[in-house]
Amino acid sequence: MSMNDKEVLLRLDNIRKEYGVPGTANRRTVLSKLSLIVNRGESIAVIGPSGSGKTTLLNLIAALDKPDAGLVEFNGRDLAKLTANELDTYRNRSIGQIFQLHHLLPQCTLLENILIPTLARPDKTKRLFYRERAEGLVKRMGLWEMRNQYPGQLSGGECQRTAIARALIIDPDLLLADEPTGALDEANAANLIELLTEINKLDGKTIILVTHSAELAGRMGRVLELKDGKI
Ligand SMILES: Nc1ncnc2c1ncn2[C@@H]1O[C@H](COP(=O)(O)OP(=O)(O)OP(=O)(O)O)[C@@H](O)[C@H]1O
Ligand SMILES: [Mg+2]
Repeated sequence: MSMNDKEVLLRLDNIRKEYGVPGTANRRTVLSKLSLIVNRGESIAVIGPSGSGKTTLLNLIAALDKPDAGLVEFNGRDLAKLTANELDTYRNRSIGQIFQLHHLLPQCTLLENILIPTLARPDKTKRLFYRERAEGLVKRMGLWEMRNQYPGQLSGGECQRTAIARALIIDPDLLLADEPTGALDEANAANLIELLTEINKLDGKTIILVTHSAELAGRMGRVLELKDGKI
């Protein structure tokens, strides 16, 4: 395959997602007739007002929730057809997630937090490999001096960079970031987006980023707006 060939990583087709008890007044359609194709190596920003379904969309992609109709296909495989075990593997190995709040474990050091996604993996022989990989990520995030500190001793920006390293430790195919700069000041937000852009450009990692900031969205290769349940 040549460099110019586009390889489809993710395909959403005609997705519908509803919340609330069926047949009652609180039933509402959040996403409807939503279709999207993401090629490997793309960086995409998803914008849209609060409540427009951005997090819902990421949850469907991460297989944390199921659509009421439509197809989510990753690497050519229909997620609805995966077994429970295959879905676990998909969530743990194919997807890396970063959230608005870092969700680091306060009782673990920065380096230990980064290694958490590797603990569930059966291949214990890879422990040294992951340890070295984690150290490499820590250096890259500019956190080497702090590697043995606890989240409570770190700034918001440092915690969020740790969360990026944790999302990258298993080398996922797709990085999902839900308002990762939402709790950061301007300088830290710019720094974080710089890192994500670099991870996309240098590592070729596919990124889908939800953000309220038009400026940050503009740094991604493509901007999608969620409106009335559609893109
Ligand atoms: N588990 C749930 N049960 C019922 N309703 C839900 C659930 N999750 C989300 N919703 C509703 O679906 C709509 C979309 O929510 P979602 O969290 O996807 O929005 P969002 O675009 O991420 O908003 P924000 O920018 O505020 O994070 C909202 O009206 C929300 O109240
Ligand atoms: Mg949200």
